[in-house]
Amino acid sequence: MKKTVLKNPYTLTFGRKPENLIGRNQEISDILECFQNDAPEYQVCMLTGLRGVGKTVCLTAVANEFRQDKNWLVADLSSERNLIDALVAELAGHQGFLSLLKNAKLKLSAFGLGLELGTREQIKDNAVVLDRILAKLTENGKRVLVTLDEAVPNRFVREFVSQFQIYIRKNYNVFLLMTGLHENIYDLQNAKTMTFLYRAPKIVLGPLNMWLIEANYQKVFGLSDKDAHTMAVLTKGYPYAFQLLGYLCFKEQKKCDDVLLEFDAYLGEYVYDKIWTELSSMDKKVLHAMAKSNNFKVNTIRQMVNMESSTFSVYRQRLLKKGILSVPEYGCLDFVLPRFKEYVEKME
Ligand SMILES: Nc1ncnc2c1ncn2[C@@H]1O[C@H](COP(=O)(O)OP(=O)(O)OP(=O)(O)O)[C@@H](O)[C@H]1O
Ligand SMILES: [Mg+2]
Repeated sequence: MKKTVLKNPYTLTFGRKPENLIGRNQEISDILECFQNDAPEYQVCMLTGLRGVGKTVCLTAVANEFRQDKNWLVADLSSERNLIDALVAELAGHQGFLSLLKNAKLKLSAFGLGLELGTREQIKDNAVVLDRILAKLTENGKRVLVTLDEAVPNRFVREFVSQFQIYIRKNYNVFLLMTGLHENIYDLQNAKTMTFLYRAPKIVLGPLNMWLIEANYQKVFGLSDKDAHTMAVLTKGYPYAFQLLGYLCFKEQKKCDDVLLEFDAYLGEYVYDKIWTELSSMDKKVLHAMAKSNNFKVNTIRQMVNMESSTFSVYRQRLLKKGILSVPEYGCLDFVLPRFKEYVEKME
């Protein structure tokens, strides 16, 4: 008899909406509500947090909601191309825009898109073309959501965001949802002419709710309260670890303690190695000392690295901002990521 192999309900793929999506309802509905409002409080929103914390998944969830609404045009852009050109191309080919043109008996050439040969009015500057398209869409009650996953502070992004500011000022129905690592968002906010980004909300994604993780494992694996709790604690609420641990236990049909070697190997290869290479040597020194200290107390770690309070607080602050460390109680630190202490101990 043919044995049926059950599909693993967990995924190791980054960015794709997982079958077992938990939490984040608050963050997602906050953005949806605000962008849908007639007088939106903000038109730009940034999602930030560590690698693997679920930024892309969250952005995709919001974008998919809007995609189902015919009043919305959603364009997914990338930091690696000229964003203004890309948005013009996306919108000009969008059904929502084309049907508008059809009803109004307008031609694309009127927007300077030059799709018809020999048009007299050829607008060279795509920022102006975009302005016209957005004006037309706004006039007709349409709304545009631009998503930018993994924003980096390069020329394309800077140019686009400052142009975007102008469209907002003109009251166009345009919305921008970006994701980025802490340092990239920080650099963008601090770039010249981009200070308006300081006023835009920045949602820092943290760990998932442990109860939800526990309930999920309990349901999928039929575990006792105690075993489900042990398994959830091992993930520390970190979304990638939640998927990974579930994936391994399902695949191997083993308990979580018996897949630790593989768990560590995946975490190292797919996330921690990247995080580690992005740290400065002093950051690493602090983390090494912390892993060696028994109590994670600020004073103990500071003495181990032989730093003045003021110098130490710079590194401490940076690691907190990046989301690598947390402050569980006054005077103490903790590693945010699961098995990160063990990882640090193994690193040079
Ligand atoms: N709310 C969630 N519930 C369950 N799993 C999640 C959730 N959010 C993210 N994940 C899982 O965590 C992993 C990482 O998610 P995602 O790719 O969105 O992270 P990211 O923050 O965009 O990472 P990077 O900075 O590397 O792009 C994926 O495997 C995804 O399935
Ligand atoms: Mg991502």
